[in-house]
Amino acid sequence: MTVRERIVDLFRSNPGVYLSGEQISRELGCSRTAVWKHIESLRQDGFQFEAVTRKGYRLTEEPDKLRKAHIEEALQTRFMGRHIEVREEVESTMNEAHRLVAEGAEEGTLIFAEEQTSGRGRMGRHWHSPKGKGIWMSLILKPRVPVYFVPQLTLLTAVALCRAIRKVCGIDIGIKWPNDLLVKGRKVSGILLEMSGEDERLKYVIIGVGITANLTEADFPEDLKPVATSLALESGAPVRREAMIAAFLNELEQLYDLYLENGFAPIRIMWEAMSVSLNCPIRVKTSQETVEGRADSLDDSGALTVITDDGRKVKIYSGDVEL
Ligand code: BTN
Repeated sequence: MTVRERIVDLFRSNPGVYLSGEQISRELGCSRTAVWKHIESLRQDGFQFEAVTRKGYRLTEEPDKLRKAHIEEALQTRFMGRHIEVREEVESTMNEAHRLVAEGAEEGTLIFAEEQTSGRGRMGRHWHSPKGKGIWMSLILKPRVPVYFVPQLTLLTAVALCRAIRKVCGIDIGIKWPNDLLVKGRKVSGILLEMSGEDERLKYVIIGVGITANLTEADFPEDLKPVATSLALESGAPVRREAMIAAFLNELEQLYDLYLENGFAPIRIMWEAMSVSLNCPIRVKTSQETVEGRADSLDDSGALTVITDDGRKVKIYSGDVEL
């Protein structure tokens, strides 16, 4: 541990207590000037200290940095999130996750970043990932299923995320096919799956999840403002990110076990119950065409069946839905 980390640690183990510069310097074996310098630099990074003459410093607030230990305390899983890597800034947690797999990471390993400089979304889009405000994470899974089952895993993830958000924030949230999570029609979360397979066998899949947990109105670029919102804006309270991540992993592991044992059918029923796009008039843009009609149902592969205005049944495997 660095001196700076030890100072923070000392304040954390003495909550609400004033510690004098002299006490701290004695405890850590450094000069009082060094203590003062570290406290000033901690202040710059968002730590708040109250300083009282002859009493010393008291830590009153810490920046909202994600702490692994807080996630671990709330985890009820066997393997999901049992190994977590936290980074300050990365290009994309997807790249980091692929790298971790190459280094031999186990199933259930999670990588979280406070900021992504090149976050990516579906269809090659950019994913806006400002520092400290959201949940930007990727999870490594290695299910023994054929590669063409991957769309089912996307839908399964959406169900787990929806359940976790309902539990932690108590807000009404729904899924727009295949994997956008919407509150009052605006997006709060997206899911991106990337996989590696050989022949038909899936080697691993990376589940990327972005949640606009604590973004303020000003944190969204102009083009996103009409279509996106954050959980904090919608629920009126800041989101405890650690609690949200743990809740998601707890839900996901349960559903994943259910899926591996009983197949997609039970997940499909849950997905359909949470869907905001089924039975609605929709327009779907695929890479080949635009289909207009009514979203009818999901099939066993996770594809969306649309009944067009002239009565045709069209299966959509990938595309963008407009409601
Ligand atoms: C989408 O709705 O288009 C999917 C968005 C997925 C964003 C997440 S944020 C964490 C992970 N890293 C990325 O670069 N993308 C995913």
